[in-house]
Amino acid sequence: MCGIAGYVGQRNAVDVVLDMIKRLEYRGYDSTGIAFPVDGELRILKRAGKLSELKAVVDDENPSSHQAIVHSRWATHGAPTDLNAHPHYDHGARIALIHNGIIENYIELKEELVRHGHIFQSETDSEVAAHIVGQEYQEGVPLEEAVRRAVKKLRGAFAFVVVSVDEPDKVVCVRNASPLVIGFGKDGENMVASDITAMLPYTKQFAILENDMVAVVTPDGVKVTNLNGRPVDLETFEANYDVKSAEKGGYDHFMLKEIHEQPDVVRQCLAGRLSEKTVTLDGLFSDHVWQEIDRVNIIACGTAYHAGLMGKYLFEKMLQLPTDVHFSSEFRYGEPILSPRSLAVFISQSGETADSLAALKLCQQHRIRTLGIVNVVGSSIAREVDKVLFTQAGPEISVASTKAYVAQAIVLMLLGIHIAQKKEMPGVRTADLVQALRNFPDAVQEALDLEGQMQEIAKKFADSSLVFFLGRRADANIALEAALKLKEIAYIPTQECPAGEMKHGPLALIDQGTLAVFGATDKEIREKLVSNIKEIQARGGHVLALTGNDDDSLDKIAEDVVKLPPCDDPYLDALVSIVPLQMLAYYMAKERGCEIDQPRNLAKSVTVE
Ligand code: F6R
Repeated sequence: MCGIAGYVGQRNAVDVVLDMIKRLEYRGYDSTGIAFPVDGELRILKRAGKLSELKAVVDDENPSSHQAIVHSRWATHGAPTDLNAHPHYDHGARIALIHNGIIENYIELKEELVRHGHIFQSETDSEVAAHIVGQEYQEGVPLEEAVRRAVKKLRGAFAFVVVSVDEPDKVVCVRNASPLVIGFGKDGENMVASDITAMLPYTKQFAILENDMVAVVTPDGVKVTNLNGRPVDLETFEANYDVKSAEKGGYDHFMLKEIHEQPDVVRQCLAGRLSEKTVTLDGLFSDHVWQEIDRVNIIACGTAYHAGLMGKYLFEKMLQLPTDVHFSSEFRYGEPILSPRSLAVFISQSGETADSLAALKLCQQHRIRTLGIVNVVGSSIAREVDKVLFTQAGPEISVASTKAYVAQAIVLMLLGIHIAQKKEMPGVRTADLVQALRNFPDAVQEALDLEGQMQEIAKKFADSSLVFFLGRRADANIALEAALKLKEIAYIPTQECPAGEMKHGPLALIDQGTLAVFGATDKEIREKLVSNIKEIQARGGHVLALTGNDDDSLDKIAEDVVKLPPCDDPYLDALVSIVPLQMLAYYMAKERGCEIDQPRNLAKSVTVE
């Protein structure tokens, strides 16, 4: 989604904001733009395409300024062109604005503005916001008051940052649903951005701007008010990760770095949550609430949805707790049957996914208990749910999610054990599960040693026109996630389904040289896969099987076999198989020369519907 950054202070603001927006590249974008004052005018430079295009034109001018705003746009209203790029400018008012989100009533507002003589350059809803602020500003009020007044006229989800030529050393920002974080510098500098990552080299002190708050950021301080102009206090906090953790750390791509971080991510995720034989999750519901809960609805999108499917497998197998998994985008417009004894679990890396947030609001209207499994502290979902469990995976920069998925699945297992403890289920061998969890980081580490083999396999199959991902039970869930990874970063079409479904249709797609990847970690039904494998081979397909390193039953059957460390639990046995499959996707994408960290058409944080 769009990235926003603004800076006022002693340094060259142009350099600072360009560096900040670079750190937000992971959010996905298709154009960028910058505004800064020069000789009593706002200089605005905008370019479709990569940030390097903008940098080239900025470098030509070699500007210096103590106030600047910058934006990376992910097109929603209007194509990714120079004109549609932000900042948007109101000539009459001499202000520039950058925006993240959607203004729903922009058409009617635009018609009204046009009637009053406003001229528009772009097709965007954001330019309308600039003119609405401009219209108020021309009444002669301070910029922050113009912003407060404008917000009252706008409908939708948005955050924006505004500067005026006539109020130097001041950046005004407002938040309504789209994320915005204030960064407090030390020596006469302050800043704002869509998230903390952008500001880590400049400060460690932050505050999340809440909905309907307006902040005036100047070199000397940050003043925050509500929409009525009344001062409000912001709670500041220190970021618990440093700039290094948001950089590539020697790897070619963030994705590979994040894959390699997974043993530590699991350790971090388990930290403080395991005692010798039990799980301790602080701050959740009281005991009688757990007794009451008789159904779980897991609601999420994409990779987080796939983690949710693992949760369903686990909760139903281990706890006999009926669990449904919903796509947030379907749930929000469906007519979900929500009993008062159910629990709604929202899984989200970013905590800002618009569909998941809307689904959360729906559950709140139904007065359903809500629990978030979220990575980003201070994000909207984390703050809105009744209770939250953080995945503690650290910042995930690659658009394709890897470590967040594994952390989500681990938190679901912790939650399952927690529920078993609370419901006093003697049949659940929690001590064994706790031990299996404790050993899991080492298993993930061992799985990383498969990198060389996965690289070789990736080379062999990088030109595939279609790849199947198959498995049964938990392996079928992993197949969905592995397929998503491959298609999103290597742009190879995939077909994923439970292996038993093949002969009901998808088998028709198999021909000479098709690659079929089988997850075969489930000992209980491994035999059932053999006939599925044979069906594919009989039609000329090539089989890659992933199985435990204690199993040799597929050695003579599949053409390629990847041996995984055993994890003493079927859920974890399946989960560890995602590690080599992430590497398979990564190396196939690399062979094909794909961008990897920022796949085409995709954004890291989907903050619009
Ligand atoms: C795929 C991926 C996406 C996200 C989805 C939900 O690799 O990352 O499918 O999982 O957009 O995002 P969050 O978890 O931030 O709600």
